[in-house]
This record gives sequence, structure tokens and C-alpha cells, in this order.
Amino acid sequence: MPRKKRDLYYNKAKQMGYRSRASFKLQYINEKYHLIKKGDVVVDLGAAPGGWLQVAKELSEGTVIGVDLQKIEPMEGVTTIKGDMTSPETQAKIFEKVDAVDTVICDAAPNLSGNWALDHARSIDLSRVALDVAARLLKPGGNFVVKVFQGDMFDDFLKDVKGRFSYATAYKSQASRSQSAEIYVIGKGFLTTALRKGAVVDVTVESLGNDGDGVAYVDDFVVFVKGGRPGQRLKVKIKDVKPSFAFGEIAKP
Ligand SMILES: C[S@@+](CC[C@H](N)C(=O)[O-])C[C@H]1O[C@@H](n2cnc3c(N)ncnc32)[C@H](O)[C@@H]1O
Repeated sequence: MPRKKRDLYYNKAKQMGYRSRASFKLQYINEKYHLIKKGDVVVDLGAAPGGWLQVAKELSEGTVIGVDLQKIEPMEGVTTIKGDMTSPETQAKIFEKVDAVDTVICDAAPNLSGNWALDHARSIDLSRVALDVAARLLKPGGNFVVKVFQGDMFDDFLKDVKGRFSYATAYKSQASRSQSAEIYVIGKGFLTTALRKGAVVDVTVESLGNDGDGVAYVDDFVVFVKGGRPGQRLKVKIKDVKPSFAFGEIAKP
């Protein structure tokens, strides 16, 4: 990052009382993607020294939990856990404190070796742990952001995030160095079902919904079937998947 830009963010962070320049990255991300709103429960993985925690607390004013290998200096209204986010012990400590989370944020970075391929692989490993923890913590419809160092495994990782959320994309922050390998992956609308758009499933229509669509279930997940009538056994093509239900159409034989 050019010195001038680095100094600008550093000075701005200092003036505003933020613990790190990274605070602005989360602010920019939230302005664009609205991942955290008032009242949300937020878990921050790789949170030290706490710049993202400060912004998360300002945005949610609710329960915020930060986890890091390093000690996080106490912050009013924020719970901190010192531990390795990849270890089952640390994960159990998080689950003891919260079980239905609105947003999981992860700015964790591995210790850099300078070997691009190795650093990329370690970053992907951490990001996958973050995705796994998020998938166990998030409410249906919950949100996710994770930092990744770019490299050849990035596309596969983004694809996997796309498979778990209604919407996912990659975002390069204006507060990151232009040459930096770091990029953020955003996931919005956590999906609790394996059903995906385009799938064809066999269902029995159980009842009629308020809008006159048939209501069927696939593994307890509601599918609204256009034109479906109670008692019909149908092949249904999934047209759209939302966090708590899906829409389908009767498939052409
Ligand atoms: C870039 S810093 C995070 C900055 C933070 N978002 C902020 O705004 O202050 C990356 C953090 O990830 C943490 N980290 C790396 N690997 C970790 C792991 N396995 N478990 C927990 N924290 C980890 C590091 O200790 C470091 O504090």
C-alpha cells in the first residue's frame, strides 16, 4: 500500500479510536452488503486486536463474540475467547456461548511464510474452517464474510460458499493494498437445505399455502409448488431456494 494511503487509514483509525485500520474494511463491506444490522448476534473469528469487533459492536449493539490466538484487550459489551479457531475445544467454547448467530465474520490470516503457494493453502484451510464453523452456527438466512489470500484454490472455495448461501460474491476492499492478495468472500442468506435451483424432486403436496400454491416438504424443508393440489404426487423442478423455503414448478413429464 502506498505510504500516503497507509498513513491516511492509520491516522483515521487513531482519530476514531479504532484498534486497527482493518475497521474500515468491515465498514466498507457492510455499507455495500449489509451483513450486520442492529440487534444481530455476531461471531468474529481471528479478531485481534479488535478493529472489526468495534465496528461489529457499533452496528449490532447486540451480542458480539471475538476469537483469536492472541489475547484481545477487553472491550465493553464484547465477549472474547483466546484460542485456536480450528480446534474443537475453542469451537466448543463458542457454541457454549451462542447457538443461533446472524453473522459470522472472519479476517483471520495465517502467519505469512513469504511462499505464495503455501500462504494461499494455509489461508484456504482457515477460510474452510470459518465456513464450517459458520455453517454450524448461522441461523437460516444468516450472513458470512471471510478473508482469503488469492490463488489457484480460490475459485473452488468461492463455489463452495455459493453452494451454502442464497448469494455469494468476492469483494476487494478499497482499504486493502491494490497489490495485496487478500480478497473477501461474502455469503448472504445461509441455506439450511441441500436443495438447489434446477433440481427435480418427487414430492407429495400436503396442503395449500396462503397464496394458493401447494405446500410440500423435502426433508422437512418447505417447497411451494405452483399449481400443486393437496394429495398430488408430483415431480417438481426447483425454481428458487430461499433460506427457509423453496419455490418449485410441476416438471414437464
Ligand atoms: C489481520 S488480523 C485480524 C484483524 C482484526 N480483524 C481487526 O480488525 O483488528 C488476523 C488475526 O487472525 C488471527 N489468527 C490466525 N490464525 C488463527 C487461528 N487459527 N485461530 C484464531 N485466530 C487466528 C491472528 O492471531 C490475527 O490476530
